[in-house]
Amino acid sequence: MTLSQAVLQARRRLAEAGIETPELDARILAGHALGLDRGQMIADSRRLLDADDLARIEAVVARRLDREPVGRILGKREFWGLDFALGPDTLEPRPDSETAVQETLDVIDERIAGGGRDAPLRIADLGTGSGCLLVALLSELPAAYGIGVDVSAPALAVARANARANGVGERTGFVVGNWTEALAGGFDIIVANPPYIPTDDCAALSREVAEFDPITALDGGADGLDAYRAILADTERSLAPSGSLVLEFGIGQRDAIATLARERGLAVGATQHDLNGIERVLVLTLSCA
Ligand SMILES: C[S@@+](CC[C@H](N)C(=O)[O-])C[C@H]1O[C@@H](n2cnc3c(N)ncnc32)[C@H](O)[C@@H]1O
Repeated sequence: MTLSQAVLQARRRLAEAGIETPELDARILAGHALGLDRGQMIADSRRLLDADDLARIEAVVARRLDREPVGRILGKREFWGLDFALGPDTLEPRPDSETAVQETLDVIDERIAGGGRDAPLRIADLGTGSGCLLVALLSELPAAYGIGVDVSAPALAVARANARANGVGERTGFVVGNWTEALAGGFDIIVANPPYIPTDDCAALSREVAEFDPITALDGGADGLDAYRAILADTERSLAPSGSLVLEFGIGQRDAIATLARERGLAVGATQHDLNGIERVLVLTLSCA
């Protein structure tokens, strides 16, 4: 069997199993199994595979058929054009979360006087997981320094390695803690993508999510808003007077979070939509700013 025939066969099996992107997954997985990049996959498409090659492809296709996400099989995920290693304790970064990165950069462009992206900003990323939001931001902000907070020490080990691998390790610190509790105040930017799925909805998650993303990254309590309440309760202390809090949230949660923020005396700013046009990110400031 040639490489292209093996990819075709894998694609058919993935499609029959109801995998959403069978063509893409089959290509990526076969390339991963054989150690070939995209160009080599094209150049080698007529290569005859031996039994060992076929066994390696079979092993990764079997994992995908068992609903393991491609990123988990590869052990990494691209986000903001950067590679992020994953571990069992890190959420796999989602493309929608790039909305939070873009919105944070837009806020910095609009609100930070005297230097904007070149200013020595102090950033906190709450629930940093793989570190994707913090590392993506620091890759765009050459003089900024960032703290990643997570309740999971194993996740922070992955985040620290990702910061180093992406060239921003020296401008980061990582802290095990409960949201802002362990932080000093005065951050220019606080960004967070907290767990926001209501507890009862977690049972209905796809196997890809339920079995491979950590539950501490998903379960947001009875109404999905526990983390927002905790973060907002301390925003007045943790944010600099002219700072901005950039929150990612789940479908339909915008108004409830805006109400919680107003109850805390915060000013509710722009709402941004994700790649699917769904409200995804809210910007909050201290109203005295
Ligand atoms: C939805 S994930 C986001 C991960 C990453 N920031 C991203 O956008 O892909 C939420 C993260 O919050 C962390 N977390 C959950 N409860 C926490 C708490 N009380 N304090 C700090 N982090 C917490 C989880 O461990 C998880 O890494």
